[in-house]
Amino acid sequence: MNKKLIGVVVAIAAGLGLAKYVRSRQQDGVMDSGEQWTTANMPDLTGKVIIVTGANSGIGFEAAKAFARKGAQTILACRNMDKAQAALATLQAEIPQAKAEIMPLDLASLDSVRQFAEAFKAEYDQLDVLVNNAGIMMVPYGRTEDGFERQLGTNHLGHFALTGLLFDLLLNTPGARVVNVSSGGHRFGEMDFDNLMFEDGEGYSPMGAYGRSKLANLLFTYELQRRFEALGAKVMATAAHPGISETNLANHMVPDWVMPLARPLFALMMQSAAMGALPTIRAAVDPQAEGGDYYGPDGAKEQRGYPVKVTSNEASHNVADAQKLWQVSEQLTGVMYGTGRE
Ligand SMILES: NC(=O)c1ccc[n+]([C@@H]2O[C@H](COP(=O)([O-])OP(=O)(O)OC[C@H]3O[C@@H](n4cnc5c(N)ncnc54)[C@H](OP(=O)(O)O)[C@@H]3O)[C@@H](O)[C@H]2O)c1
Repeated sequence: MNKKLIGVVVAIAAGLGLAKYVRSRQQDGVMDSGEQWTTANMPDLTGKVIIVTGANSGIGFEAAKAFARKGAQTILACRNMDKAQAALATLQAEIPQAKAEIMPLDLASLDSVRQFAEAFKAEYDQLDVLVNNAGIMMVPYGRTEDGFERQLGTNHLGHFALTGLLFDLLLNTPGARVVNVSSGGHRFGEMDFDNLMFEDGEGYSPMGAYGRSKLANLLFTYELQRRFEALGAKVMATAAHPGISETNLANHMVPDWVMPLARPLFALMMQSAAMGALPTIRAAVDPQAEGGDYYGPDGAKEQRGYPVKVTSNEASHNVADAQKLWQVSEQLTGVMYGTGRE
């Protein structure tokens, strides 16, 4: 076998192995079923302002389109402006009446997060839904601009800072929501506050760090909800996961030249990005949703299907860990909640 062929076989085996591993670690946490909630169930969103991070592809793009189609002023917060521009053009071609704009946001840079928050606040005086969707998965060990381990830095700390900087606006928008996009992969994450960032790569595994960042998304969601309640705010925090959906998330896991070969296989294994976006959309706009709700697909092992309330694991409900993570996240990012200012 030549080297390229071996590469293809290894990549496909890795993809199948990952899917199998995730399946084996997931429990069937579906709480209700039998309903088929779709975008047809969405309320009218005219007059609402919604931010979607990482909206140029995958789940974020599908969610942004759904919000724009229902009349929301939709902000696609993206790190790559060329990709963002292309996504906006596609969105506008599909939905000519869309009220949508792109704004630069790199969650791996606290400077960028601050600039985004300032630019957003200069333009808008309300924020109805903040969808913390952007994410990277199973990348090799690396650090963000601020020295944070890349997956925790991007998936959790960047969104923690963003939410904190927009906190005052959320509190002043009755009925506002924060939606954090987690993953079934939270089940293989563990918090270790003695080495939260896998310093210098110590103990690092791409999957372990991804799992930790996705567990952090849920700890953050539930703690945020407790804090909204303590403040008596008419704002809530919800979470969602897309099951296993065909997006760009796994792109870097295989060499570029393998992707055209692996894609048909992935398509067989995964549901569409549009289906995968439904839990996020439901968590964002379903009038029946309550603070702390977590939505995922209703199919076997929550891999595919229509969005329903699901359960997350015990570790994600550990209040002491949630409070510790909050405190550490404030220290690391310099963003203090309560006032919404640093
Ligand atoms: N697809 C699944 O099966 C699955 C399963 C479980 C959970 N999820 C979660 O779903 C969310 C969306 O992922 P996806 O599947 O839609 O993958 P995707 O197509 O790769 O989308 C991820 C988005 O995040 C953006 N992003 C990455 N790093 C960023 C940064 N530093 N700053 C700003 N944006 C950044 C990407 O921008 P670029 O295009 O510039 O890279 C892209 O727009 C993630 O949180 C992921 O963990 C997905």
